This record gives sequence, C-alpha cells and structure tokens, in this order.
Amino acid sequence: MSSIRKVVIPAAGFGTRFLPATKAQPKEMLPIVDTPAIQYIVEEAIASGIEEILIITGRNKRSIEDHFDSSVELEQLLQQQGKKMQLDMVRQLADIRVHFIRQKAPRGLGDAIYCAKAFIGDEPFAVMLGDDVVYNPTTPCLKQLMDCYEERGGTILGAQFVPEDKVSAYGIVAGTQVEPNLYKVDGLVEKPSRDMAPSNLAVLGRYILTPDIFTELEKTKPGAGNEIQLTDALAQLSTPIYALAYEGVRYDIGDRLGYLKATVEYALRNPLVKDSFKEYLEGLDVQAVYDKVLPFEK
Ligand code: G1P
Repeated sequence: MSSIRKVVIPAAGFGTRFLPATKAQPKEMLPIVDTPAIQYIVEEAIASGIEEILIITGRNKRSIEDHFDSSVELEQLLQQQGKKMQLDMVRQLADIRVHFIRQKAPRGLGDAIYCAKAFIGDEPFAVMLGDDVVYNPTTPCLKQLMDCYEERGGTILGAQFVPEDKVSAYGIVAGTQVEPNLYKVDGLVEKPSRDMAPSNLAVLGRYILTPDIFTELEKTKPGAGNEIQLTDALAQLSTPIYALAYEGVRYDIGDRLGYLKATVEYALRNPLVKDSFKEYLEGLDVQAVYDKVLPFEK
C-alpha cells in the first residue's frame, strides 16, 4: 500500500485563458466529450489508490460541489424512466467522498496548496492540477509518481519535455539524470524566458509533496504574476527533489488548442461515439471548412 493517501486538487483559478466560457462556470467543469475535466482528475486519483480528496475551490465553483453530490430528483427521474446506466453513473459520482475548502482570494497556486495544511497534517501528499489531463490507460500518471516516491522518498515532480518555445508557460527543471526517466532536481524556475530556461523539462500538473512545503510556503513572497508560486517554495526546500518524466498523453485543457485536442482524442476513445466520430472525421473536408466553403458550393 502506498504511503500517499491524500490528494489536493486546486480549482480556485478564474480560468481567464478560457473566457468567455469561464465567466459564469468553473473551467474544471468544461466537458471533454461528456465528462467534466475535474472528473478525469478525480478518477485518476482513485485509480492511483488515493483515499482522501480535497478540492480547493473559490467563488463561482458551486457546480463542482454539486457534481460530486447526490441529486435526489435526478436519481428519482432516472429510476422512473428505467435508465439504469445513467442512474449507476450519477450514483457512483455521489459515492466519491470529496472534501472542499475555499481559497478566499486568488493569491496563486502556492497559496491554494497552503489552504490544505490542516487537512494534510504531517504526511506526504499528492497535488493534481486540473488543467493537466493525462491519458494513460495502463498506469495512471499519479500512480507513476507514487511508485517513484516509494522508491526514492522526497518531493517528486511530474514532468515532460516541452518544445523550447513553450518553456515560458511552465515551471522548468534544472536537473541531473539519475535513471532513464528520472532527474535529480538542482534548481527550478517558474515561467522563465526562453534564453533563461535551464532546460525544456517542464513540471506538468502532478506532484508528490512532503509536509515541509508548508513551512516554505509560509515564507514565500509573491513571484511570477505577483502570485505565491508553488515553484518558488519548492526551490527553497532542503530535502531532495526528483522530476519524473511520466508516461502518458498530456493535454493542457486550460488552453483552447489543448482543449480541442483533448476533445477530439477522447471522442475517438469513447465507446459511445468513437465509430461515428471516426467516420465523420474521415469524411470531413477540412480545407473546405477552413476556407468557409458552404456545403452546397462544393
Ligand atoms: C502551474 C505551475 C507551473 C506548471 C504549470 C503546468 O502554472 O505554476 O509550474 O508548469 O502549472 O502544470 P499555471 O499553468 O497555473 O500558470
């Protein structure tokens, strides 16, 4: 059994990269095919063996709580209509035990994690960011980090190599390779410019943290974007940090193109639509749509 039992999922951000969709609804609830993004994250946590889930929310995030709550009227209706598959689906969601805490002001990822201090207590824990949906049907991304923690201890960062022109969007690792997919971290920079980046190994949405991070977060001053950055607190830790280049297809669903890629690829894996969607894509005249040619003009 893993010593990592708890996960913190920060979901308090305003989702400004995805306006106007996020004006009145949380970006975590945007559906990928038919499932809200946050459900993929929660399902990955459960598949990895996590027992306690804490979601950090803010104002405007009520629908996340409702999604994991029971819905008596909906269940009654589905029962009356004999829709067993849908009934099982909504009941399973309500059975997932999720805790919530509100971050009172959007002071950054580091501050959001700090809100979990009392919930975590004195044990190592996982953090999953909702923007990073990772597809790996064999070994969930978080499980890969948990296994790595059992072997190495310390802090484990989930990472992948990104194109050099994308480094300024991420926390970037300076490290020394110790195993084919594992790097001992010597330094970390949040959103460096391309010429200041120590590598193109980016921290992508999954962490195993030790409770000493809270002591560092207390001392961390606002950094990039005038926010309390988790990366800055991590960079101050005196305990070992590793970056694991995890296996899986990672989608940045906080970005329009990343979200579209996730939608198309998840649809091609979804048993309910995959065949008809594949047929549609294969018959699609991409250039004609791009050129705005009306169907009857072809
Ligand atoms: C956050 C982290 C950053 C990380 C990124 C992707 O940034 O601060 O280090 O690389 O998530 O997981 P954000 O995308 O919230 O600005």
